[in-house]
Amino acid sequence: MLQHPYPMYFYPDNLLERIVIFQKEKFNYRSVPQEIKKKSVINKEEFQNNGWYKTIWEMTNVLPGSKLEKNIASFPDELPYRLIKLFSYAGETVLDPFFGSGTTMKMARQLKKNSIGYEIIRDLENIIRKKAGFESEKTNNFFEIFEKKTGRYKFVTIDYIESKKNANNSKDNRA
Ligand SMILES: C[S@@+](CC[C@H](N)C(=O)[O-])C[C@H]1O[C@@H](n2cnc3c(N)ncnc32)[C@H](O)[C@@H]1O
Repeated sequence: MLQHPYPMYFYPDNLLERIVIFQKEKFNYRSVPQEIKKKSVINKEEFQNNGWYKTIWEMTNVLPGSKLEKNIASFPDELPYRLIKLFSYAGETVLDPFFGSGTTMKMARQLKKNSIGYEIIRDLENIIRKKAGFESEKTNNFFEIFEKKTGRYKFVTIDYIESKKNANNSKDNRA
């Protein structure tokens, strides 16, 4: 928006950012069970009508004045929403190594996926809780923080921990 219609008022802000996609080896589409595929289907109309196929995605960035994201360069919700839909199957866990206000966790929850985040600023906990909807006692049970000696903090959902436990148990049973 142009605040005043005169030269020097236009302030370009993050006009273009890149999304880099890494893939470890060739993806084996046949390894995905039919039932998981069904749960992960992408709505073609949503894809088409919102221009997800375009090289450049146009999105309104989070405005600097927004309360929850003050001083954090948060993603617009639409960004993790699209990426989670396009690159993860049902039951998978989404990782954001630069967690900030937890936009990725918010959208992962909406899309019924587990998520983990790494963040160095401990004080962001309350903002993350609020944004991702872990404020009430009931939802609190699904949110956990691990503090690491390196000074990084790992925010994970309890579903993730449970699945880790189950995996370890089945390993023990096999031993
Ligand atoms: C651009 S913000 C991330 C925005 C976030 N994904 C969101 O949508 O809310 C980058 C965040 O990465 C955090 N950060 C920077 N270096 C880090 C590191 N080495 N490990 C973990 N987090 C880091 C910063 O504290 C900051 O909150």
